[in-house]
Amino acid sequence: MDGHHVNAMTGSQSGGEDTTRLAASATSDFEDLSEGHFYDPDADYEPDPEYAATLAPDAARQRRERIGPTGRPLPYFPIPGPVTDHGPAKVIAMCNQKGGVGKTTSAINLGAALAEYGRRVLLVDFDPQGALSVGLGVNPMELDLTVYNLLMERGMSADEVLLKTAVPNMDLLPSNIDLSAAEVQLVSEVAREQTLQRALRPLLPEYDYVVIDCQPSLGLLTVNALTAAHKVIVPLECEFFALRGVALLTETIEKVQERLNPDLELDGILATMYDSRTVHSREVLARVVEAFDDHVYHTVIGRTVRFPETTVAGEPITSYASNSVGAAAYRQLAREVLARCHAE
Ligand SMILES: Nc1ncnc2c1ncn2[C@@H]1O[C@H](COP(=O)(O)OP(=O)(O)O)[C@@H](O)[C@H]1O
Ligand SMILES: [Mg+2]
Repeated sequence: MDGHHVNAMTGSQSGGEDTTRLAASATSDFEDLSEGHFYDPDADYEPDPEYAATLAPDAARQRRERIGPTGRPLPYFPIPGPVTDHGPAKVIAMCNQKGGVGKTTSAINLGAALAEYGRRVLLVDFDPQGALSVGLGVNPMELDLTVYNLLMERGMSADEVLLKTAVPNMDLLPSNIDLSAAEVQLVSEVAREQTLQRALRPLLPEYDYVVIDCQPSLGLLTVNALTAAHKVIVPLECEFFALRGVALLTETIEKVQERLNPDLELDGILATMYDSRTVHSREVLARVVEAFDDHVYHTVIGRTVRFPETTVAGEPITSYASNSVGAAAYRQLAREVLARCHAE
């Protein structure tokens, strides 16, 4: 009882309460997410009951056992403090040669979540489909200059290609179908695998994170992304055959490590489109954890129609549906990625 009393006193007495409130208001969105909890359907930030239902069984178990959806005890990922100095950037390649696994969605929303936490983020659309550019409200057909020009034209400065996004702290190197020509043209270039690395180098001091959205192939563009990167994130859809092709991907990552980029590391496997209502989804996730162990992020991205909606809206889920579970999941991922980076 005494303890309670003392706590209550210090709470109400705090002379600096107003200033504390002000300072906290910038991050209050994130503090709504109580520590260690994934997708708590009872929490205030959950306005999407239909989607919450897909996660409810696990959420209940998580509350009881503090076990995350991957079946492992859930660590607490602290809310990242503000940074005053920026750069040099860590470069992350979002990579899986399978299409439709959530690469682009993860690049946009991890980027936006990192930017919300005050990190300077550069997103690189490295898929000629231009889905990342579209997802941020850019019409790729209308672009004069894209990442293609930055790659192929000597003397082209990144500033001419860079676009500001509607998200503070987040910029974009857009792309469109022009980039598909680069794949062919690069073949005859000297140091063809290092072209993107060279193009990004002058930008690294300006940013904390560069996230490259790869195309669904293991061709020369993807090898360029892996050569430019420090870390790879592999999104895996919790569906049949999720693991098919992953051996080829890890082999490619190892080859790039050996021959081109010894600094490259697999940061993590990100389970996406998870639906805890289906035994199947849970089984796939269990298999993925069995295969990749600690490489699997504790954060798991649930399946929700909110993500396709954000593409139409042309903005990240963190602003389109700021209080949704999907936004919470990508903020949690950002915290987990930051925690991994800081642990090094
Ligand atoms: N967690 C999710 N739940 C439901 N739909 C999703 C989720 N993540 C992505 N999507 C949708 O699935 C499709 C493929 O996702 P995308 O990120 O474009 O994959 P990739 O870049 O790997 O091809 C898109 O229509 C996207 O809106
Ligand atoms: Mg994509």
